[in-house]
Amino acid sequence: MTLCLDQLNRCTVAVDLGAARTRVYLKDTGLVVDEPSLAAVNTRTGSLIAVGEMAGGMAGRTPGHIRVVRPISGGTVVDIDMAQRMLRFLVDDKIRRAWRRKPMLRAAVCLPHDAEPIAQRAAVEVLGALGARKVEMVDTLIAAAVGCGLPVEQPEATMIVVCGAASTQVAVLSLGSIVAAEKVQVGGDAIDYAVVQHLRSEHELMLASKGLHPLHLALFDPMRIGTETEVRGRDVATGLSRTVLVNTAHVREAIHTPLTGVLDAIGRVLRECPPDLVADLADRGVMLAGGSAMLPGLDTMIEQATGMVVRVADNPDTCSVVGLGAMMEGRIRPMKLDPMVS
Ligand SMILES: Nc1ncnc2c1ncn2[C@@H]1O[C@H](COP(=O)(O)OP(=O)(O)OP(=O)(O)O)[C@@H](O)[C@H]1O
Ligand SMILES: [Mg+2]
Repeated sequence: MTLCLDQLNRCTVAVDLGAARTRVYLKDTGLVVDEPSLAAVNTRTGSLIAVGEMAGGMAGRTPGHIRVVRPISGGTVVDIDMAQRMLRFLVDDKIRRAWRRKPMLRAAVCLPHDAEPIAQRAAVEVLGALGARKVEMVDTLIAAAVGCGLPVEQPEATMIVVCGAASTQVAVLSLGSIVAAEKVQVGGDAIDYAVVQHLRSEHELMLASKGLHPLHLALFDPMRIGTETEVRGRDVATGLSRTVLVNTAHVREAIHTPLTGVLDAIGRVLRECPPDLVADLADRGVMLAGGSAMLPGLDTMIEQATGMVVRVADNPDTCSVVGLGAMMEGRIRPMKLDPMVS
């Protein structure tokens, strides 16, 4: 993956194919798609029934012959055909027709830090479904850092942690490049899974997928550690609806394992960094991005573990695609690093 701002400048559409959400940014327009990366398929006929929010609404409520699938996993397209069909339906008809008239439509896509060539190829093929003839690939970490407004092109260290649904990526950047980076397969989904498993094993309670988000606030709020909160779900044995009192401190213990994965990745990146850059970071702190950055209390937990100030980006979930958009629109000016002539 290379980062050439001139090439990016020629792109008109930027895409972030996330495990949880797909986002499309249109040059000079802004974010036009931000929907779940989901497709509902009729397994008898193979036809697509719904995509995005509508498919999300169907999840867990479908009859046997309809399946809601995720064509993207951990930032990697696992079902190219389904991802192409999903993306085509997510992008508005009007925009697609306008693109069809462009014989040389160029697109940009952000990919996870260590994306294998096969994953890169899959993303390029998916964007081909939109009519893109050329696709520029950008590291998600750089795109997110730009989207957060970090001065990536300056000769000073900035640290970014992108905590998505399926993975967390950590990097230290300086002079527009990655100095050290790590990716772990732990994200918001693993944290949610740990909470669901805790409720299941300790309280014999099954939680509906929609029941998780209202819970986050009560469970992770640092002001409410040790307090008890009411959780409603279905009894594992009887199947009947039941309410239990859950101790928030116990839930925090349950999410300790996925969180350790994130903290270890931060530690490894810091160890790989030259001491001068680590000193910069002590002053500047860490920028937290990705949808899971919105977990209340995640920033405080990282702050306590690392001793560094943690700031959550303004719109943490969309900053990767917005960063790609900023580079496409030429809002980022690289520092001139031409050889000096005397
Ligand atoms: N308000 C919120 N509170 C807590 N968690 C949230 C909130 N909003 C989103 N999330 C979590 O953020 C995750 C989605 O983040 P994001 O949109 O960055 O993922 P993604 O880019 O699709 O995934 P990835 O980058 O791993 O491929 C989900 O796990 C979701 O549960
Ligand atoms: Mg993402």
